[in-house]
Amino acid sequence: MASEQEVAAVGKILVNPKQDLTTRFRALFTLRNLGGPEAIEWISQTFVDDSALLKHELAYCLGQMQDERAIPTLETVLKDTTQEPMVRHEAGEALGAIGNIKVLDLLKEYSEDPVIEVAETCQLAVRRLEWLISGGDQKGEKGTDGNPYCSVDPAPPAQRKTVHELRTQLLDESLPLFERYRAMFALRNLGTEEAVLALGDGLQCSSALFRHEIGYVLGQIQHPASIPQLQAALELDGENAMVRHECAEALGSIGKEECMKILERYRKDTERVVKESCEVALDMLEYENGTQFQYADGLLRLQGEHQHLRVTMMHPIMIGIVIVNTSITVIYWIFILTEAFHRKIEEEDKPKDNPA
Ligand SMILES: [Fe+2]
Ligand SMILES: [Fe+2]
Repeated sequence: MASEQEVAAVGKILVNPKQDLTTRFRALFTLRNLGGPEAIEWISQTFVDDSALLKHELAYCLGQMQDERAIPTLETVLKDTTQEPMVRHEAGEALGAIGNIKVLDLLKEYSEDPVIEVAETCQLAVRRLEWLISGGDQKGEKGTDGNPYCSVDPAPPAQRKTVHELRTQLLDESLPLFERYRAMFALRNLGTEEAVLALGDGLQCSSALFRHEIGYVLGQIQHPASIPQLQAALELDGENAMVRHECAEALGSIGKEECMKILERYRKDTERVVKESCEVALDMLEYENGTQFQYADGLLRLQGEHQHLRVTMMHPIMIGIVIVNTSITVIYWIFILTEAFHRKIEEEDKPKDNPA
């Protein structure tokens, strides 16, 4: 259990715009894992930032924490039309994820928002809350596969069907988005190559919100079979930045060498949210391939800084030891070893007695 001071130390990293974005992301995930009112407060304070990517992730994390104390912040963000659509979308989705029915009226109101991504998100969140009210989660939803990713999803998975049937439901644009999302999460839970390829076909559908969610679940599954479709969406001229961002992060979480090459190419993208996603994705990739102990390492880094401080304080003693040590080594090499070396050479140069 982290102390209030430790939470505050991580919070200060998160709110500081001078810090690297990747470091701030790690601080955010650390706070999400720690939870509690102070963590929520630090996350809430960061909505004044100018990175839409970071702010949408703040909202996402507040939703995943499922702590009702985050509701007032999320309501404010959803209502704030100066916030970017992807940030407001994530706030609406987070309100649905928390699952308190007191936000139902607000979500119904914003189901008519002129920003289509926000409207569709709120429609989905309303359906999720209605599903919760009807006791959907308590029924145990027999015949569905469980979510192996521990995420709170905007819709429950559909009943188990064949991949072909789920694909048909996924791609049928005449169905409500909620039903198509249910097929999406059922396919994700299956996680087979066939299911992954069916999901990838969803990247051609007309709703940008839907396509971005496909990118998100493909990132969860981390199946290399989805790389070509994710790459195509990232490279597609005119594709919605929210979709391209999700595809970049998915490539990062798949973590293959070829993913890294693709992301390196888009690291300088003119769309800020895509550029920043590539940076964060490459950082995650470093984690996937590297030796770092945990991705959300805000506290570890902090402890590392304390260690660094201790080392700095020991500097005068350390410097003394190093100087004495180096001097002894130099004296040994110059005076003793050279002497011994000469003697050895002289001995070897003497004519040796041949055996009889
Ligand atoms: Fe999203
Ligand atoms: Fe996202």
